[in-house]
Amino acid sequence: MKIAISGKGGVGKTTLAGALARYLAENGKRILAIDADADSNLASALGVPKDKLEGLTPIAEMNNLIEERTGAKKGSFGIFFKLNPKVDDLPERFSVDHKGVKLLILGSVPQAGGGCFCPENVLLKGLIRHLFLQRDDTVIVDMEAGLEHLGRGSTKGMDLFIVVVEPGQRSLQTARHIKKLAYDLGIPKIFIVGNKVASEKDQRIITEGLSDMELLGFIPFDSQIMDADRDGVSPYDINSSLKEAIKEIANNMEKKIPSF
Ligand SMILES: Nc1ncnc2c1ncn2[C@@H]1O[C@H](COP(=O)(O)OP(=O)(O)O)[C@@H](O)[C@H]1O
Ligand SMILES: [Mg+2]
Repeated sequence: MKIAISGKGGVGKTTLAGALARYLAENGKRILAIDADADSNLASALGVPKDKLEGLTPIAEMNNLIEERTGAKKGSFGIFFKLNPKVDDLPERFSVDHKGVKLLILGSVPQAGGGCFCPENVLLKGLIRHLFLQRDDTVIVDMEAGLEHLGRGSTKGMDLFIVVVEPGQRSLQTARHIKKLAYDLGIPKIFIVGNKVASEKDQRIITEGLSDMELLGFIPFDSQIMDADRDGVSPYDINSSLKEAIKEIANNMEKKIPSF
């Protein structure tokens, strides 16, 4: 199962990606968590200790690797480079393991249809294709907030899109855009998770505002989740209401997606 987590900025994509990865790993799944946000912070949501991250560079910034694999320097245009660089060893070589989750930090994802036709994009696209089409782990991708990267190149092979929303019209509007894009891209399943929900009214704003989308569950608003971010620890390790909510979300995924 290849899962992408999307939504407006700040709605809780990274929080959900981290907690879901930890929960599924605890329950016996082999998890590869991919940080595809240029502003990477999935490691902290997963609770990866700082010393394990030392010396780890996002793939997009590994200039030597880009040159070694494609035969050309990062950022070069108009010269020949390999269009099919070797990538299958990268997840093992450049990921860190934490509590059963393997974390790989991409650092950025090429923009749909655009971005430069340059060595680093070719390497990243090849790697993403490999992750979605050739690995048998459960892959969870923490996406960037914008929609520009949602193209065929970065979503082929994705089974499931989870759009995180909060009780607010702007995040609902973003969810509608993503739904349309996902449909156009041929992504088979798209679900929503309502986050930062503090009341029944908040729940209704989401279910009524997105009545044509399927809901996997709600995560309550809880100041402990913000405290975790402030203190650089995983909310999954300190907040029991988040754990409960994730359990319910995972159960619903199992019910609604037979192949999960
Ligand atoms: N359920 C919640 N209750 C309270 N704060 C939350 C909750 N979910 C996320 N947050 C906080 O909101 C901020 C943004 O969350 P984050 O997961 O980084 O969002 P995104 O990845 O979508 O930008 C963080 O400070 C996080 O701690
Ligand atoms: Mg994030």
